[in-house]
Amino acid sequence: MKKLEQKIVFITGGLSGIGKACAIAATAEGATVIIADIENDTVQSTLAEINGDNNQASFFNCDVSNMDQVKSTLEHIITTHGKLDVALNNAGIGGNPNPIALMTQAEWHNVLKVNLDGVFYCMHYELAQMETQKNGVIVNMASVLGKIGYASTAHYVAAKHGVIGLTQSAALEYATHGIRVNAICPGFILTPMITTNVGIVHHPEVTQQIISKHPMGRMGTPAEVAAGFIFLACDDSSFISGTSLEIDGGFLAT
Ligand code: NAI
Repeated sequence: MKKLEQKIVFITGGLSGIGKACAIAATAEGATVIIADIENDTVQSTLAEINGDNNQASFFNCDVSNMDQVKSTLEHIITTHGKLDVALNNAGIGGNPNPIALMTQAEWHNVLKVNLDGVFYCMHYELAQMETQKNGVIVNMASVLGKIGYASTAHYVAAKHGVIGLTQSAALEYATHGIRVNAICPGFILTPMITTNVGIVHHPEVTQQIISKHPMGRMGTPAEVAAGFIFLACDDSSFISGTSLEIDGGFLAT
């Protein structure tokens, strides 16, 4: 028996990296997956990669930092599929690195509006739907940087701490409504956010510095995070709510 058979699974930021790996894992477990992301020229090829021989994944254009677009997206899902079983609020950006005294208001707001406001907007509509169903699972993509400080990324760190706070508060509010809410805290994972945006492929010394923070001596893979997502999304974790699962090669144990 597959773990997410008959389940409607909503994934933000599912066109790349961790979100894409979670979409692949969820369809493999029998789920119907709706990806919300900002439309780009990879939509068709990514859907083909996720779908394989079946047709379980679809795409909806949505900027999670726009509350009206998030509302329309959730309305589309309910109209089309009639319910929402699992939501993975994963869309996020790294932001421009800067120490706080040099960080501009725009740099601060750009990260907060996607990484924290976006998670709130999604949860706002997801929880309203799940409350009417009296069941549902939400998984929020936080980070190890949601639990510690990290120089030159105060916007990202503050947003991810906020995501963990949102997760815990929602877990309390909806514990008796059949809804579980958890977070995942990945260490550094080899995705375009790290390889392309942070540009580590061109900076071996930065790569080594990042790897050295992981006692296992390497960065993680998107599939390793997806395995944690499937666990939290399915009934294997039926008594787990309000937690943040560290998938970090020992990063936070140091
Ligand atoms: P990625 O850059 O590979 O993928 C992020 C996806 O989110 C992209 O498809 C992008 O288009 C989408 N996205 C960005 N802004 C959006 C918006 N406003 N609305 C809708 N979609 C939007 O990044 P990655 O690494 O897969 O990151 C996914 C999540 O995991 C993020 O929340 C990130 O903060 C978190 N994370 C990543 C880690 C890493 O080392 N890669 C470590 C810890 C957490």
